[in-house]
Amino acid sequence: MLEGMSEPFSKHQDTIYLEGLQGRRPELAMAYDQLKEQARKKLRPSAYDYVAGGAGSEDTMQANLEAFRRWRIVPRMMRNVEERDLSVKLLEATHRAPLLLAPIGVQGLLHDEAERATARAAASLGLTYILSTAASTSMEEVAAQAPQAPRWFQLYWPRDPELTESFLKRAEESGFAAVVVTLDTRYLGYRVRDLSRGFNPFLKGEGLANYFSDPVFRAALPAPPEEDPESAVRHFLAQFSDPSMIWDDFKTLRELTSLPIFVKGVLHPEDAHAALDVGVDGLVVSNHGGRQVDGSVGALEALPKVRAAVGDSLPILFDSGIRSGADMLKALALGADAVLLGRPYAWGLAAQGEEGVREILLRMLADFELTLALSGYSSPGQLTRQALTEAGAADF
Ligand code: FNR
Repeated sequence: MLEGMSEPFSKHQDTIYLEGLQGRRPELAMAYDQLKEQARKKLRPSAYDYVAGGAGSEDTMQANLEAFRRWRIVPRMMRNVEERDLSVKLLEATHRAPLLLAPIGVQGLLHDEAERATARAAASLGLTYILSTAASTSMEEVAAQAPQAPRWFQLYWPRDPELTESFLKRAEESGFAAVVVTLDTRYLGYRVRDLSRGFNPFLKGEGLANYFSDPVFRAALPAPPEEDPESAVRHFLAQFSDPSMIWDDFKTLRELTSLPIFVKGVLHPEDAHAALDVGVDGLVVSNHGGRQVDGSVGALEALPKVRAAVGDSLPILFDSGIRSGADMLKALALGADAVLLGRPYAWGLAAQGEEGVREILLRMLADFELTLALSGYSSPGQLTRQALTEAGAADF
């Protein structure tokens, strides 16, 4: 194995060329659209559409991608970029690269190994996996795949405080180092592709492993989920979220866990302020990959405004539209400390399981490292707004 934990990610490019010299071409498609197509062929149409689709007309998904095209990198020459360090510090912890795996629920739709494969792939590269509440695999099982690997837990904040407390306690006990509370999913977005098929995986009990394995959740059921899945699904639907919650409710959440709390789905600078005021530890600027509000602002458009609102007081993560190393560079230059990778690794999982996820992560970081170096930078910390210009701007 050429790529271990110490090789620069950029070496992955050499590996692919050397394989080519032996007459072997990459089995996993290199270009994003082809990768998506390769995954599509492996998936049930309902599963493919569940991942590929977004809310309404999918205009937000488009806006996410377009927002990146409006910024251009202005590469700088003749700087020493031979030694590179991609690591970043988030709160107390050092991350090997400014990339974490976004919480993507119901991975059982994509591959039999589901979140177990994703957890092992992330662990093999020392990257942090954010496990969804709505996973096909329980947090304890995910932790057992790679006990030493860095992992965070994404929380869909349930109605019942006791269930919330139980989720957080289990996460702490299973070695999850932070909790990411997703704010933008009080209801499922109006997803036309899923509606056309009448497809909602949760109604079939898929993606509910963390609920069905929870002692507090189970205690509230008339019979165990294994015997009476319908009642269990009904209880999940009643518990999933409490749309009446307001910022003040974070005070109670804060008391339920000692883990650092990130909030995911912040787009407006005033919400960033509000989050800061209630004492969260970090923000994730995201529009959930365009799956919630159709016609929303592209996530990257919000990023510099959110950074300006909170200054350097908090770490900011970013997702929604990261498809390349250049996208990563732009997000970091506009104020993110790290990005979350979403759909690309889901396609890797669908196409090739654990190996597919690992390959996608390696490629993304090889691309990022080379783009960084070729633009004149040797670490993420050197990136500022000065690395970019707005497309068509007269000066930079
Ligand atoms: C998601 N996302 C998500 N977010 C979250 O907080 N909890 C979850 O369970 C899920 N589940 C989920 C399933 C699928 C199929 C997708 C595609 C996305 C959102 C995810 O964390 C991230 O915000 C987006 O994927 C980012 O957009 P792109 O870059 O993937 O387009």
